[in-house]
Amino acid sequence: SAAEKGGWSSFMAKEVSEEPEAVANTVRGRIHDGVVQIPELDGLDEMFLGINRIVVVACGTAAYAAMVGKYALEQWTRIPVDVELAHEFRYRDPVIGPDTLIVSISQSGETMDTLMAVKYAASRGAKTLSICNTQGATIPRESDAIVYTHAGPEVAVASTKAFVAQITALYLLALHVARLRGSLTAAEIAVNAHELEAIPAKISEILATEQTHIEQFAHWMADTRSVLFLGRHVGYPIALEGALKLKEITYIHAEGFAAGELKHGPIALIEPGQPVFVIVPSPRESAELQKKVVSNIQEIRARGARIIAVAEAGDAAVLPYADEVLRIPLAAPLFEPLLAVVPLHIFAMGLANAKGLDVDQPRNLAKSVTVE
Ligand code: G6P
Repeated sequence: SAAEKGGWSSFMAKEVSEEPEAVANTVRGRIHDGVVQIPELDGLDEMFLGINRIVVVACGTAAYAAMVGKYALEQWTRIPVDVELAHEFRYRDPVIGPDTLIVSISQSGETMDTLMAVKYAASRGAKTLSICNTQGATIPRESDAIVYTHAGPEVAVASTKAFVAQITALYLLALHVARLRGSLTAAEIAVNAHELEAIPAKISEILATEQTHIEQFAHWMADTRSVLFLGRHVGYPIALEGALKLKEITYIHAEGFAAGELKHGPIALIEPGQPVFVIVPSPRESAELQKKVVSNIQEIRARGARIIAVAEAGDAAVLPYADEVLRIPLAAPLFEPLLAVVPLHIFAMGLANAKGLDVDQPRNLAKSVTVE
């Protein structure tokens, strides 16, 4: 009903507007003066000290959150991390055992593919930790440990605020484990904790300054038939998420690629007029990668692509080649995904609205898939 949507035109619009709180509420109570400690994990230190491998299992948007989380988990804990689609995981005799931690991510906590992967891992002696947005759901009940995301109920089928909350929970988990294992100094943990605490205000800034611009731009693109997304490093899973959201709610063909892979195939797709979103790494913090991505942009621009750059405020290197620039505030590289995804969520929603589609209930999809 209109009342449930709190004045918003759709649940998705309401839920995108709640992305800042989703991050803030997930952080709350877990960072104190730069120390990251997740109270729900008290008494489980042995579990985190006794592992030598982490496998993150999830489906859909949650699997892209897992891919983002891998960069932080490995960088901060130095534990090798694999990400696997939950439905692929148990059908290939994976190498897991008591020294493996299986982290599952599920907004609903009821996705059957993810549940079966967790049960399978437990039967093979692995430890299991659930990142979930729904109190008391089946997957957390079946797991040894739980870290809830506090995004609040998500109604729209396409996941938005839960995605940023999932990345937040993974980062908190990584910093919690880094403290236990001594893989980061207290000072390093504090720096990252402060970066995370600063994210909600930065997302709010994007919503305040860019939303109208992006919606208008999406309107102009209402007849587009295909959109490509390119990203590198943590921007790569964000490119995949941008493409997924567009498929889910606009029914437009969309694909995400690792920018470095362009020359190995996808560049053949570029023809005049093809819109390509490019997530541009920070020129301050990732100068080398930023240059490579800008050169990717030049290559596809020369072949007629229309470039929509998602770039840090002040990055002028993209200006000569971009048809459209969507700005995000400054953040350390690992934290950029939490910002770069916001314009993509707004864009998908704006395009679906421009096409007159039901953004909350897209055809053929269910919010939670409880069959295998
Ligand atoms: C369904 C939804 C997706 C969601 C996926 C995983 O396919 O349509 O939006 O990302 O399930 O859901 P979960 O509840 O496990 O996060």
